[in-house]
Amino acid sequence: MINELLKKRYSPRAFADKNIEPDKITGLLEAARWSPSSMNGQPWRFIVAEKNDASDFNNLLSVVNEHNQVWAKNAAALILTIVKLDFDFNGQLNIHALYDLGNAVANLTFQATSENLFVRQMGGFYPEKARKVFSIPEGYQPVSILAIGYKGNPEMLPEDLKIREKAVRIRKGLDEIAFTGKFGKPYNNVEQENNLRKAG
Ligand SMILES: Cc1cc2nc3c(=O)[nH]c(=O)nc-3n(C[C@H](O)[C@H](O)[C@H](O)COP(=O)(O)O)c2cc1C
Repeated sequence: MINELLKKRYSPRAFADKNIEPDKITGLLEAARWSPSSMNGQPWRFIVAEKNDASDFNNLLSVVNEHNQVWAKNAAALILTIVKLDFDFNGQLNIHALYDLGNAVANLTFQATSENLFVRQMGGFYPEKARKVFSIPEGYQPVSILAIGYKGNPEMLPEDLKIREKAVRIRKGLDEIAFTGKFGKPYNNVEQENNLRKAG
């Protein structure tokens, strides 16, 4: 029922030891750039680090927390996402800035999926350390780090992560999240995709 690209996407921790072609990285950023945003404010910013530049990559990896470093070190690229908190045109707080950044990351992710690349987003990192390491100015907020790469073999992971990597993915039912008439009254008459398995 849902688009194949949406079905194919999942967030791996196992990444292949393979660089991402530079034009594909550009494509990911272009996909983000063409996202919609409130007042066309385009509050997203990205700092890209590719594995083939060890110094850049290790700098970005150094702001990832220790739990995530275990697997994130295998990604071919890491991208720090940053949001600009106010509008360029009037300096007022942009209350949809985070929403817009999320939208841009979603588009980046589906562009990645269409290139057989996979993305795992991380909230587990040190934003204030990132601010210092990358000289991020006031008015901008580091939000997440994206680990990106081709799919790897789960066998490469430590035992606990291997099990989680192979687990069936679960979601709330549509009756819990989609309503009609009033909040909490399920929009029924809907088919659901239950228990999507990870590709491969
Ligand atoms: C904003 C955000 C923060 C996340 N932070 C982490 C994280 O720090 N570490 C991690 O392993 N996964 C993290 N994830 C991945 C989620 O756990 C994952 O998307 C979720 O379990 C659903 O799995 P799926 O993406 O394969 O469908 C994060 C995802 C998002 C969107």
